[in-house]
Amino acid sequence: MILELLLLLLAASLGTYISEAKNSSSPLTCAGIPYPFGKSGKAMKGFEISCGGINGTSPILQLGKHAYQIEDISLQGKLSIDTGVIFQSCRGDVTDGSGWIDLEGTPYTISDTESSKNALTMVGCDRTVLILGLQTILSSGCSTFCDSSIINGSCSGLGCCQASIPMGLKSFSLMRGNIDNVRTINPPVNVADTTCFQAFFVKKSSFSFSTEMLQDVMDGDQVSQARYPMVLDWSIGNETCEEAGRKKETYACKENSYCYNSTNGVGYRCNCNPGYDGNPYSNDGCKGVGLSLLLIIIGSLWLYWLSNKRKLIKMKAKFFEQNGGLFLQQQILSQGSNATLKIFSIEELEKATNNFNEKQILGHGGYGTVYKGVLPSKKVVAIKKSKLVDESQIEQFINEITILSQINHRNVVRLLGCCLETQVPLLVYEFISNRTLFHHIHGQTNDFSMPWEDRLRIAAETAGVLAYLHSTTSTPIIHRDIKATNILLDENYTAKVSDFGASRSVPLDQTHITTLVQGTLGYLDPEYFHTSQLTEKSDVYSFGVVLAELLTREIPISSTRSEDQRNLAIYFTLMFDKQHLIQLIEPQIIEEAGMEHLFVVAQLARRCLNLKGEERPTMKEVAMELEGLRSIFHKQQLAPQNLKKIEHLPGGIVLSVGCTEASNQYSLEVDMLASMDLPR
Ligand SMILES: *[C@@H]1O[C@H](CO)[C@@H](O)[C@H](O)[C@H]1NC(C)=O
Ligand SMILES: *[C@@H]1O[C@H](CO)[C@@H](O)[C@H](O)[C@H]1NC(C)=O
Ligand SMILES: *[C@@H]1O[C@H](CO)[C@@H](O)[C@H](O)[C@H]1NC(C)=O
Ligand SMILES: *[C@@H]1O[C@H](CO)[C@@H](O)[C@H](O)[C@H]1NC(C)=O
Ligand SMILES: *[C@@H]1O[C@H](CO)[C@@H](O)[C@H](O)[C@H]1NC(C)=O
Ligand SMILES: *[C@@H]1O[C@H](CO)[C@@H](O)[C@H](O)[C@H]1NC(C)=O
Ligand SMILES: *[C@@H]1O[C@H](CO)[C@@H](O)[C@H](O)[C@H]1NC(C)=O
Ligand SMILES: *[C@@H]1O[C@H](CO)[C@@H](O)[C@H](O)[C@H]1NC(C)=O
Repeated sequence: MILELLLLLLAASLGTYISEAKNSSSPLTCAGIPYPFGKSGKAMKGFEISCGGINGTSPILQLGKHAYQIEDISLQGKLSIDTGVIFQSCRGDVTDGSGWIDLEGTPYTISDTESSKNALTMVGCDRTVLILGLQTILSSGCSTFCDSSIINGSCSGLGCCQASIPMGLKSFSLMRGNIDNVRTINPPVNVADTTCFQAFFVKKSSFSFSTEMLQDVMDGDQVSQARYPMVLDWSIGNETCEEAGRKKETYACKENSYCYNSTNGVGYRCNCNPGYDGNPYSNDGCKGVGLSLLLIIIGSLWLYWLSNKRKLIKMKAKFFEQNGGLFLQQQILSQGSNATLKIFSIEELEKATNNFNEKQILGHGGYGTVYKGVLPSKKVVAIKKSKLVDESQIEQFINEITILSQINHRNVVRLLGCCLETQVPLLVYEFISNRTLFHHIHGQTNDFSMPWEDRLRIAAETAGVLAYLHSTTSTPIIHRDIKATNILLDENYTAKVSDFGASRSVPLDQTHITTLVQGTLGYLDPEYFHTSQLTEKSDVYSFGVVLAELLTREIPISSTRSEDQRNLAIYFTLMFDKQHLIQLIEPQIIEEAGMEHLFVVAQLARRCLNLKGEERPTMKEVAMELEGLRSIFHKQQLAPQNLKKIEHLPGGIVLSVGCTEASNQYSLEVDMLASMDLPR
């Protein structure tokens, strides 16, 4: 809208600029007469114009007893008038017409410049006409003949001839006669003309001879009413520029203009300096056209930029709204100073990531690209640029942001904020430095094997997160994409569960929700896959796969394994059930932790991998069991010889018993575990 207006404005201003420079096609009126011309009193001396015509608005050039309608005035020294015949003669009847023009004492000269050349034109047969300047000895003339070959359009001696006008001609006399007997016409000398002819001035380029014209002349019955366009040159005074320039009070060229000598007789004219346009004879008439054009262009660019910026702001606002920004903003505001989530502007994030530079890419996830960024506060963050999401998903997405913003668990990657001004929302997370669990257990550096103690802790931490998500009071959250690559590790190998992009919250009164099956091959719960019914047990299955990975250091789907072993979950289950699992467990950790301990972990994994969701333990049970195993393992590390036996307690809590001297401690631990409430 603004842009259209702007273009119109630009076109209009350019249009005025151009039309000012060009001649006008509409007839000149008295109102449009430029200085130095004008009505008496408003004109420079000698340039007075009278106004006549029907409504008194037509400019008239009055020269003695003759009046000429002015068709056009150009500040470049031209004045177009229309005029009648100079005289016509037929069978001795000589009529003077208004074409007798005397410019002596006026600023005008009959134009002889190329573009507006006039010609003394004679139509008739067997005649010669000569034009003599009264002030000069210059003369010119032409003759006509008539025969049957007279043609339309050609005025070069057959029925019509044209004599060029001598330079500087202001007044003249004509001579006419037979080809061999030329006499003076003015003052008239009566010579019996046996034939008829007519003479007039006309602008050469505007005249076209026709046989009809000759016929009219030959009939010669009435005084010709024909009008012919004619151009006069005009100039100021009778001095050169240098002489005129010395007389400041009468000098016609005003500021920002220069003077040039008339090329047709005496006097000078003015022109605006380069870069200026307008009337050099008026005060302040020459305007800096370059400057104003420049100003127009700069103005236009500025307005364009402004409208673009406005559009951008509008668009941002639209996306912000579309992305649920208002809802989120409201939520954040209502939390007041307790708010943990910040809404970032796109500029902040562009700056933080060096315009989303490729070098800043940390990885490509299933839900977008993750960039490393540095906020002005020097805080390092990970910025996730989501893939395009449709509008219905956005609502869900915002819901998840809201939920995530409320999760404050030390083992969940913290969401710091988001940016909703772009079409796809951007999420800003704390930066976790030490890559993913996948990288550490399946990484190329086989020389380093992660100690079992760390693996067990990471498993326990992850299970703790899932138990927490499943048991949050408001609406339980199903992560839906638990896998080794979504478990990030910080510098201390502390697990940080990430990528809640696919997560779904389940209303409390429902045990499952039906969704489009989504997840990662190798981790995907087969029951969910077949029924599309997502339950918390789907996360349990995926977690079982992670446990199996931790025990075996095998990747979930491997084409290097034989076909029946390709899927780790199936392979692991098979080997466990055949009691051949020991072949699959990584030897190093058997050495580290002992087979009995690992068997308990493997059993837990096996239960998680149960095909029937119902028969899988809950995440809370898994988490407690792993915590128990951890503390036992810890004690075993302190005094391995103390460990005698591992026992299952009801509720899935596993305890190591048989260590008499430390039994007090153990029972204390059981109490602690039983009363332990998971973080909210
Ligand atoms: C006026 O402009 C037209 C074309 O734009 C041109 O043909 C014509 O010669 C011009 N007339 C004068 C008096 O400059
Ligand atoms: C004179 O004015 C009348 C009405 O104002 C208008 O209709 C007419 O065209 C004008 N005539 C000329 C020659 O300008
Ligand atoms: C010249 O033009 C007129 C019309 O303007 C026509 O009547 C006449 O026949 C033409 N003459 C020639 C010789 O073409
Ligand atoms: C120039 O014009 C002035 C007044 O317009 C006049 O007095 C003077 O005689 C003229 N000079 C010539 C050389 O025509
Ligand atoms: C005007 O004409 C005079 C005399 O011919 C000459 O000296 C002078 O340089 C000319 N001035 C310009 C601006 O052409
Ligand atoms: C901030 O948290 C405290 C403690 O949880 C609570 O009392 C207070 O009302 C909260 N403030 C706002 C603005 O929600
Ligand atoms: C990851 O952690 C290990 C052990 O703390 C450390 O040696 C290694 O440098 C860390 N790697 C990165 C990329 O921080
Ligand atoms: C890692 O552990 C050290 C020592 O306990 C602690 O100072 C540091 O803050 C920890 N780093 C993180 C990211 O928690």
